[in-house]
Amino acid sequence: MAAIEVRPLDQGFGAEILGLDLSKSLSQEAFDIWNGAFEEHTVVILRDQDFTEAQHVAFSEKFGPLEVFTDPKDQARGFPTILRVSNVDRDTNEIKPVDDLGHKSFTLGTSDWHTDSSYKRVMSKASLLYGIEIPTRGGDTAFSNTAMAFAALPEKRREELKQIVVIHDFEATRRRFGLPPRSEEIRRKVPPVPQPLVSKLPDGREALLMGLHASHVENMPRKEGDALLSDLTAFATQPQFCYRHKWRKGDLVMWDNRCTLHRAMPYELEGERRLLHRTTIAGEGPLI
Ligand code: OGA
Ligand code: MN
Repeated sequence: MAAIEVRPLDQGFGAEILGLDLSKSLSQEAFDIWNGAFEEHTVVILRDQDFTEAQHVAFSEKFGPLEVFTDPKDQARGFPTILRVSNVDRDTNEIKPVDDLGHKSFTLGTSDWHTDSSYKRVMSKASLLYGIEIPTRGGDTAFSNTAMAFAALPEKRREELKQIVVIHDFEATRRRFGLPPRSEEIRRKVPPVPQPLVSKLPDGREALLMGLHASHVENMPRKEGDALLSDLTAFATQPQFCYRHKWRKGDLVMWDNRCTLHRAMPYELEGERRLLHRTTIAGEGPLI
């Protein structure tokens, strides 16, 4: 096996891994290098891959149990743990109409800064996104490192923020975009949940946890809470805390949801095809 290299990006976080082919069997040593790079660099990139859905799932499962996506139309066929991140309809293979409600919820819900599954009681640990069809223009994914951003705040401010609890709710995300509520049954399954504004990683780092699914700040007047969240998001998404991934077909990008925000950048939704496959590693337990 060629030597595996971890090459940090210039942005201050993120690293590219070289010398690894995930369509081949993976040694424990190679996995340990990847996992170490993930824990240290937060966003890990591997280019020029060509692996199957089963290999995507098998690799992802090494990091922990995967989240299951309930709607078959959103799944890669036969793989309930692979989410199609796409403007292409699975069954017709045609570009979806932009006003299709399910599609809209997804495209709008990923188009602004968010953290995957922050509206679940147990939010996700990491996501692995694999590029299959990439538009010629636009459609980059931007990442903000919210641990770096938090560390850059004055100590007194950090201490204040650590006391704050935020309610996350996917229905609030839908309301933001004028989308109708989902069925009572779904809402009961995924009720609003409290999350700490500052989450703690196993290595002791602390990170801001907010984004689109953050509905409101607990025990704070709405206006004040909304201003707090939008000010912190503006702070954390300044260029010095961000990396923007320009996709090529065959890229795999894994990011740490415990200390990042991310968003899909615009592309021609009705003009260019975009298909990526996402697996999501479930977190280990509730944060509060
Ligand atoms: C996601 C997501 C961003 C993108 O899959 O969780 O937010 O660029 N995707 O598609
Ligand atoms: Mn996302």
